Amino acid sequence: MTDKLTIAMPKGRIFEEAAQLLLKAGYKLPPEFEDSRKLIIDVPDEPFRFMLAKPMDVTTYVEHGVADLGIAGKDVMLEEERDVYEVLDLQISQCYLAVAGLTDVKVKGVAPKIATKYPNVASSYFRENGEQVEIIKLNGSIELAPLIGLADRIVDIVSTGRTLKENGLVELEHIADITSRLIVNPVSYRLKDQQIDEIVERLSKVVSQ
Ligand code: PRP
Repeated sequence: MTDKLTIAMPKGRIFEEAAQLLLKAGYKLPPEFEDSRKLIIDVPDEPFRFMLAKPMDVTTYVEHGVADLGIAGKDVMLEEERDVYEVLDLQISQCYLAVAGLTDVKVKGVAPKIATKYPNVASSYFRENGEQVEIIKLNGSIELAPLIGLADRIVDIVSTGRTLKENGLVELEHIADITSRLIVNPVSYRLKDQQIDEIVERLSKVVSQ
């Protein structure tokens, strides 16, 4: 059995930016990523393999130690509060969490309904602002909720702002800036500190400040 490190990588748009960063750091990655449906991808020339996970699940794999490292959005870190070390801000996949809604929305009742993929972040945010709300958890297409009367406002990621615009929604409040982070399982960090430190060092040199 190999003592390769396992890196949990988020499938989807963050993956490409993370792969570019690893290439910039001088790692040789196999060319097969794009088309492959494989979920565990060995990197023959390097001391690690990738595990491809849903972005929201990366922290779970790393916390449970089935992945030594992971690349996770700060949004997921804020929402999940997992027992992992955040060792490097990779400065990729920049976006932010915001409250948005319809311009002409009239909030009825005492507790406006907030649709979100981030119930913990949203609850904390409104609690800290002294506003009582009802959270409605959705798994995607959050922008639908105000359009069809499911919610008064949403808490969601804004990247280019295109999804809000094309659905006639406006940003109302900025909650937090988000980038992807390199995260490490605490036990792995104790047992494999040299291997992990090398990756952290090489990546930190190519992260744009
Ligand atoms: C994310 C996010 C917004 C959108 C923002 O959704 O939840 O809907 O991207 O990007 P923009 O500001 O560039 O338009 P994603 O595409 O991950 O899909 P989802 O709706 O299934 O969450």
